[in-house]
Parts: sequence; structure tokens; C-alpha cells
Amino acid sequence: MAVDSTSPIAASLLRWYDRHARDLPWRILPGRNITPDPYRVWMSEIMLQQTTVATVRERFAQFVSRWPTVVDLAAAADSDVLAAWAGLGYYARARNLLACARAVVERHGGIFPQDEDALRALPGIGPYTAAAIAAFAYGHRAVIVDGNVERVVSRLRAIDTPLPAAKANIYDAMDAMTPAHRAGDFAQAMMDLASAVCAPKRTNCLICPLQDDCAARRAGDPLRFPLKAARKQRPVRHGEVWWVERDGAVLLVRRPDKGMLGGMRGLPGSGWIDGAGSDVADVTHVFTHFELRLKIVAMSPAEAARRGIDGAYWPLEQLDAAGLPTLYTKVTDKMGATKA
Ligand code: ADE
Repeated sequence: MAVDSTSPIAASLLRWYDRHARDLPWRILPGRNITPDPYRVWMSEIMLQQTTVATVRERFAQFVSRWPTVVDLAAAADSDVLAAWAGLGYYARARNLLACARAVVERHGGIFPQDEDALRALPGIGPYTAAAIAAFAYGHRAVIVDGNVERVVSRLRAIDTPLPAAKANIYDAMDAMTPAHRAGDFAQAMMDLASAVCAPKRTNCLICPLQDDCAARRAGDPLRFPLKAARKQRPVRHGEVWWVERDGAVLLVRRPDKGMLGGMRGLPGSGWIDGAGSDVADVTHVFTHFELRLKIVAMSPAEAARRGIDGAYWPLEQLDAAGLPTLYTKVTDKMGATKA
């Protein structure tokens, strides 16, 4: 519900955005009467979900130059897209990226739908991404709330409920502020403000266009917001990773499609078992829901064959092109296998 299409907050923030918007490759800067390509908006928003703007800038450019349209991406081989995603993490996003591109081609003739409900029906597109595409690419009014917006709005309104319980409050507050026109610019202005002025651990209220509207500033402690519920400690899992080397090549496998790092290339190894284990880990990697500690174990090619490991030997000097997720590049680095 657009409570107030010309709220003072929207007016101040849009004025600020007209001068300070970041020039990002998936955006069209304000003041030009065109909207960005929905494909580029979608791709960038999926990448930005768990990855910083700085990293996404570079990887986004690689993706869209290799697959310039959703039709090109839909026709790509799964293994090429997964390998290109290597290092970005959260690999379910890459599998959904392909599934979504193919659904856009099959269901919508290669054109992203404009309607938030139709967008949400596509693989990997949740409420946030649907709203972002509808507003950024198609100019519709939508309420766009990501982590940046949560931070700014919870400070503006001094929302005293901890996250994630505060999400509904924050959404309603954002809805009430979002203007009927330029809803997309308004949300992206909040994101830029969140980065430049209203950062997680540092605020620069003196230059903030919303300083007079901000309840947290009035209360004297903007960094207190957003409140967060205490996090449970991450459980630890452990296992072995097997290093099988032959004639300057190392044995790589393809991980099963289901489960962690599904469909990605990897090194062979044991399963990952709950509990810290007694081993001293050679490699530690933090996933969202657990920390993994792996011991590197050298194994002979004969032993690997005896165990029936289904893989292929990959030349060590070409490992950079294997598309290994970061967990495994930590192992290959440790083995001195990748040179800069
Ligand atoms: N983070 C997520 N989406 C973004 C966008 N469109 N601009 C800046 N930061 C973002």
C-alpha cells in the first residue's frame, strides 16, 4: 500500500541519489529515461545476494560477456556455468540461475515477466529479487528490502525488535516510505546510503540526507540498530580429502547434484561427519551452517582405482580452469599446486 507517494524521506533520499548514485554496471544512472535490461538486473541481484559489490562487479562482467542474453545462458552447459560460478559460493544459486534462465525461455519466450507473482514462480527468485526486477527493470512500484535496507530502516525508525522478528516491521516501514514513482531508485538509494553513509559499524550522520528524520540518531546511538537475536554457535564437521597425483595431474571428481557444492568439481574424499574429530585440520572452511575441518591425505592412484573413485586426472598447471570451489582451492594452494 503506497501510504505516501511523496514522503519527505523519499524526496530527500532521491535528491541525494541524483547526485551520489554509484555507477554500477547493471544500473542505468538516474536522469536518463531508460531502464536497465531485466536479464542484467536479475543476474546482478542473484550474485549480490551473498557476495560483495566489489566482487560482483568483476564476475558480473564475465558472465554477461560470455552469455549476453537469457537465451544464451539457457543454452549453456551446466558444467560451464557451475565452473564460471566457482569462488562465488552458495552454489545452489548457480544451479537455480540455469533453471531460471531455461524457465524464462520456456514459459515466457525469453522475456522476464514484469509481475512480481510471475517472477516469484521462477526458480531462485524470492520476494526480494522479484520486487527488485519489477522495480529496477520495469519501473513498477515494489517494496524492496535487503540487508542494507533493513539496516537503514531499522535505524530511521529505531526499531527495537531484533532481527529476524523485526522483518515484518521493517517491511511495513519501507512500504510506507516507498514512493509511487522511482520506487527502484528509492531502494537503490538506500543501498548506496547503507554503503557510503550508514555502514554496519560506522555512520557518518553529519552528511546523511536523512539525518533530521532518523530516530536512531536522535536517540544518540545509531549503531545499536538493527538489533540481532543471539546466534547459535556453528557446529563443526570433519573429514578427509584425498590427494591423488599422477604424472603432474591430480584426480578430480564431480560432486553429486544434491547436497553441498552440488554438481561442482571437487577433490575426492570421505564424507563429512559431525564433531570436531581428533585430527589437526589442514584446511578449515566456514559454510553458513557448519564449519568444516579437513585433513589432507595422500593416496596412490592404485588405491584410488581400487576404491572405484569415479573421476578424471586434471593437469596441475591447468587447475585454475577447473572451476573448483574455494574449499578445494584452499587444498590445492596448500599442496602448492596452483601458481599465481
Ligand atoms: N545490493 C543488492 N542489490 C544492489 C543494487 N542493485 N545496488 C547496490 N547494492 C546492491
